[in-house]
Amino acid sequence: MNRFKLLPLYCLIAAFSVADGQQLTVAQKVDALMKKMTLAEKIGQLNQVNGDWAATGPITTDVGDKLEQIRKGQIGSVLNITGVAHTRAFQDAAMQSRLKIPLLFGQDVIHGYSITFPIPLGEAASWDIAAIERSARIAGTEAAAGGVHWTFAPMVDIARDPRWGRVMEGAGEDPYLGSQIARARVKGFQGNGFGSLDAIMACAKHYAAYGAAIGGRDYNSVDMSLHTLWEFYLPPFKAAAEAGAATFMNSFNSLNGTPASASSYLQRDILKGKWGFKGFVVSDWNSIGEMVQQGYAKDNDQAAEFAIKAGNDMDMESRSYINNLEKLVAAGKVPVKLIGEAVRRILTKKFEMGLFDDPYRYSNADREKSVLNKPEFIAAARDMARKSIVLLKNQGQVLPLSKNLNRIALIGPLVKAKKEMKGFWSLDIGDEGKIVSLYEGMQQAAGKTQLLYAKGCDITDTSRTGFDEAFKTAMQADEVVMAMGERPDMTGEAKSRANIHLPGVQEELIQKIMATGKPVVVLLMSGRPMVFNWTADHVPAILYTWWLGNEAGNAIADVLYGNYNPSGKLPITFPRTEGQIPIYYNHYNTGRPPQNDSDVNYTSAYIDLPNSPKFAFGYGLSYTAFKYSNLKLSGKSLQSNGAIIVSFDLTNTGKYAGEEVAQLYLRQLISQPVRPVKELKDFQKIMLQPGETKTLTFTIDKEKLSFYNDQLQWGTQPGEFNLMIGSASDDIRLQDGFELL
Ligand code: BGC
Repeated sequence: MNRFKLLPLYCLIAAFSVADGQQLTVAQKVDALMKKMTLAEKIGQLNQVNGDWAATGPITTDVGDKLEQIRKGQIGSVLNITGVAHTRAFQDAAMQSRLKIPLLFGQDVIHGYSITFPIPLGEAASWDIAAIERSARIAGTEAAAGGVHWTFAPMVDIARDPRWGRVMEGAGEDPYLGSQIARARVKGFQGNGFGSLDAIMACAKHYAAYGAAIGGRDYNSVDMSLHTLWEFYLPPFKAAAEAGAATFMNSFNSLNGTPASASSYLQRDILKGKWGFKGFVVSDWNSIGEMVQQGYAKDNDQAAEFAIKAGNDMDMESRSYINNLEKLVAAGKVPVKLIGEAVRRILTKKFEMGLFDDPYRYSNADREKSVLNKPEFIAAARDMARKSIVLLKNQGQVLPLSKNLNRIALIGPLVKAKKEMKGFWSLDIGDEGKIVSLYEGMQQAAGKTQLLYAKGCDITDTSRTGFDEAFKTAMQADEVVMAMGERPDMTGEAKSRANIHLPGVQEELIQKIMATGKPVVVLLMSGRPMVFNWTADHVPAILYTWWLGNEAGNAIADVLYGNYNPSGKLPITFPRTEGQIPIYYNHYNTGRPPQNDSDVNYTSAYIDLPNSPKFAFGYGLSYTAFKYSNLKLSGKSLQSNGAIIVSFDLTNTGKYAGEEVAQLYLRQLISQPVRPVKELKDFQKIMLQPGETKTLTFTIDKEKLSFYNDQLQWGTQPGEFNLMIGSASDDIRLQDGFELL
């Protein structure tokens, strides 16, 4: 960009910053600018379009038209463009518009930018809030250096249905854990606040209840009680708003008959009203336009009217605003004030981001070069990846692997996979060669041990022609490590599956290899909970490794060899089979609860399947063992403004140093409406050396005891509570009770 083009901009800035020698506030700057804007220019600010930009390709002619629209002030934001060169090209066009209002560049920076971190569900399994914040911080720092102002993350949708492909993108099923993670991710992306060059705007999505799509089918409608909405689905959104998320994205689904983009209840009453949210709301991709298919609006014209009235500020890709709002105002159908309000919210963020001071401040080629792929970022990605791994089974202490083995056989379709390790919602920015496959990670770690390899089978293909070679390879080894799972594109947007079993003939291959009699470790790579009952029942050691990103192979090798002791816990319930879905730990009791899994005598049970899941929420093993003891409560009752201090001892009784996630669950026994049988209310992740004991404390206070009553008011009801402390939602080690007076 040449200096000449900047001149008028600087004049404009001068006009914004000084009046009678005083610095103007952002609000005053927005006012001053809005006075200069025509209605058409205001509507342009509400219009967001796709950049149609290919990572290595040229800007297409289609984009050429968009550049012209930008010059005319018809576009306020562009999504899906990254990189200094390309963002500069677009910003250049904005600087040729009449008012030179800078564009906002949005991008799905979901789990990493140039360096891919584990998928969000995997990170959630770490229950390590500081590490999750750091992961988002690094993604934000890299993205900001690559020209991006705004990420469409975090996704904070509660998900109780693993058929839904987008479970991979969130933090699982629990509102408490989900809220902690939502806060951490918002803080991570937004860093030290707007104005600092490594902060990007966060976007809490998809508001709301998108994760409850009926049947787990993406984009499907949602029908739920307002109580369930408030109690389970809204808390992570509220947490994101409280953490200062700059933006919210609404969702594709209709909620109880109203498309989320048209929901005044969600956007105006709750978000901007009750929660006092000051940022702006962007629609999801064409979600305004889709009101027509949904049968809510007769055309895009009416859809635009509904959306702007409902508080949807920016239109992503449906062109409903740019094509219709002016005439809707002229016809008296949309008050011009509503457009002003939406523009004000968007311009406020542009000012806060410093874009009026320098529209190119995120697009600096030197910074892009020096910030991306720093060694410390790669080290953090490895650390996050190993923290995300969940040890599901370790019978006979097959793991960790001995460093003195002669030969290890690596078998399975994902042993040598590289790009796949990034999982869905990753960007094609980093160097693919730098992604560490399992094979490469093992080569680094295996020392003198010889590695043998056989693929055995493909992921979905049903050919068994590789089985014999895999069997022979396994026979030559001392131990076998199998890398099995989904293709990364089997979970993600529009990737719902009715059958979530380990695909293809992979479980048959596992059976075949088990027949060798060798010790077998199965690694399961996937974006969702899968069903793999034979494996779970027969294979001695199983690690759930999700998609771990760039450092996958190193992280898995760290865990296999015990250089890192696994500490992950499932953030979502693993069903025995699809028929149990939706399945989640924090359900209500029935009038006929079974006493155990075989109690089907007129109880609320399946006659052909136990009620319990295969692996419960909060479950995950370690190479060491932990003992919980000495539970003490500072009192047996409290007033609603009081507190009880709970303390207990946690001892590492095994021979490895390791971390445990101690979980606190509560249950209010009698209340109106009823409360779940168990609710996570706190947790602590603690490192203990072998033989070491630490005393942990939790504080029970009003916040932990409150819930939404049937008028949807947040507060407490007196009554008795069960207090449960454990290693998983189904592995409670200490229990007591107390009363709220
Ligand atoms: C997704 C959003 C995403 C947007 C932009 C939509 O299809 O639902 O989560 O941010 O596309 O890529």
